[in-house]
Amino acid sequence: MVTNNKNYKRITTNSLLEFKNNGEKISMLTAYDYTLAKIIDNAGIDIILVGDSASNVMAGHETTLPITLDEMIYHASSVVRAVDRALVVVDMPFGTYQGNSKKALDSAIRIMKETGGHTVKLEGGSEIIDSVKRILSAGIPVMGHLGLTPQSIYKFGTYTVRAKEEEEANKLIEDAKLLEEAGCYAIVLEKIPSKLAKKVAEILNIPVIGIGAGPDVDGQVLVLHDMLGMNHEFNPRFLRRYLNLYDEITKGVKQYISDVKKVDFPNQDEQY
Ligand code: KIV
Repeated sequence: MVTNNKNYKRITTNSLLEFKNNGEKISMLTAYDYTLAKIIDNAGIDIILVGDSASNVMAGHETTLPITLDEMIYHASSVVRAVDRALVVVDMPFGTYQGNSKKALDSAIRIMKETGGHTVKLEGGSEIIDSVKRILSAGIPVMGHLGLTPQSIYKFGTYTVRAKEEEEANKLIEDAKLLEEAGCYAIVLEKIPSKLAKKVAEILNIPVIGIGAGPDVDGQVLVLHDMLGMNHEFNPRFLRRYLNLYDEITKGVKQYISDVKKVDFPNQDEQY
């Protein structure tokens, strides 16, 4: 049975589990600012991820590593002020949770207190499980993230598909089970073979949300600026562009420049 998601006044981690159990797919997009968060929340998106992809998309860094906890808190609090319905998930940035569960808990508490976000997301499996457990012990819901984990880009060396080989696929399955057993409420799987993602979604009771992980998972996530076509450079196979805002915005700005130069703007009706 497919539920009508308009029945959900506010999406919670429990609603996501109901979606999975009812066979309704979960929709998730990133946002980093008030204005776009308001639009996608009003459009009915289920989850808004304040992703550390803000490091690339907002700040122009090459990787997600440089973004700081203070910067993530700024983005997340802007998003939270806009949102009435969606579950707001905040990425914990690189260096705030790895190898030190006390620091992880302190970072997660800052995110929850200073942003009003609803949950945090961490990248990794067995390596970060102590941090995951400690954050969960404080009553903070945790979303996991396995497969291509961009904070480990210098370990991987490339942004290519992960877990194609049996050994890495088996570790991913074990990590997914570990995260579920620890108490995570959902997991993101990024850029892995569809067959493997399907298997993980079947094994786990919690929702599995894919990006470049095929259709047989419980939901999909994309970076908002990518799916709106706000850049031309990023062209992975998994990306579907729903608009071409780069060209639309360029067109509008060029028209504005021309109108200003010609003194066509402002006209009689556009002045006091
Ligand atoms: O930071 C991000 O945008 C993400 C998504 C790609 C899942 O983690």
